Amino acid sequence: MLDTFLEKSACRTPINVNGDASVNQQTSFIEQLPKVELHLHIEGSLEPEMMFELAQRNGVSLPFSTPEEVKAAYQFTNLQSFLDIYYQGANVLIHERDFYDLTWAYLLRCQQDNVVHTEIFFDPQTHTDRGIAFDTVINGIYSALRDGEEKLGISSQIIMCFLRHLDEESAFDTLFEAMAHKDKIVGVGLDSSELGHPPEKFARVFRKALDEGFLTVAHAGEEGPVSNIYDSLELLKVSRIDHGVRCSDDENLLHALSNSKMPLTVCPLSNTKLKVFERMEDHNIVELLRRGLCVTINSDDPAYFGGYMNDNFKAVAESHQMSEQELAMFTRNAIMASFISEEQKSHLLDKLGQFVSHYHQDK
Ligand code: ADE
Ligand code: ZN
Repeated sequence: MLDTFLEKSACRTPINVNGDASVNQQTSFIEQLPKVELHLHIEGSLEPEMMFELAQRNGVSLPFSTPEEVKAAYQFTNLQSFLDIYYQGANVLIHERDFYDLTWAYLLRCQQDNVVHTEIFFDPQTHTDRGIAFDTVINGIYSALRDGEEKLGISSQIIMCFLRHLDEESAFDTLFEAMAHKDKIVGVGLDSSELGHPPEKFARVFRKALDEGFLTVAHAGEEGPVSNIYDSLELLKVSRIDHGVRCSDDENLLHALSNSKMPLTVCPLSNTKLKVFERMEDHNIVELLRRGLCVTINSDDPAYFGGYMNDNFKAVAESHQMSEQELAMFTRNAIMASFISEEQKSHLLDKLGQFVSHYHQDK
């Protein structure tokens, strides 16, 4: 029943035909579409303006003199060229209030973009390695998310990522710190430099995390080979693959992902900024959707990659011929792939169904 609303929908207008009316229509559909984000690094939502504000507040010196200079430095050639600058930016985050302010600013962007549920990553080691307490980080993020739920009606979950360029011992230490916060952290993930740091390096940490009741996800097949996708499924028992776009290199994997409905949290603007795809027209997300994979649209590190959720949706819709049903399918997939209760999923699917069926009638 929950799956049928898209078939029943009367909105069958192709929305990316040439012509202004249809472009406006597509923009407005995307803006009003309720959205769910499943791949967002909270440190990657640090806008240059806030970076400067926090640097001043905390007496941290930056190698830039204006936010414009920071923005001009965001010319990336690959994942590593981004990560180097991203870890540097995080140095301005020191106090619980900084993590609160960062998260609150992101939630206000969610409200603007009509994001109704979000599952955010944080990288504890980026902060604990600088002497910031784990509790400072998680408490700041968590209290902003609680306020987001109460004041903005945006629900959320937290996923803690291990930095894969660091060693297994550091990941275990981080997992042990997280044990005291099981009530706040729904799952663990794996991010940072994919090349040279395969999933098997963290197989034992993930086994322990699963034993402790955490769900698991992992960045795989962003820049790295399809073997990282296979190994994340096999060894890390992930519930979702973050990125996963390199799956197109392997026909057998495509079939397996389609049959299992294993979710991929795809980040279109991130992928073009980091040169995973040269142009948005070359991105495989629409092809994957049409082949029956459970693909979703997400913003990854929006302050660095030029846009939040609506920008990512628009970038995909502007460069591919898509119907409204297909756009809504990204939200449907994200609801199904989220780490919320069946009851909450049902509620969000209803909300989406209502939106799709009333969108044209109400205009
Ligand atoms: N950390 C933040 N953004 C990331 C990305 N796109 N890939 C890997 N690690 C990340
Ligand atoms: Zn990511």
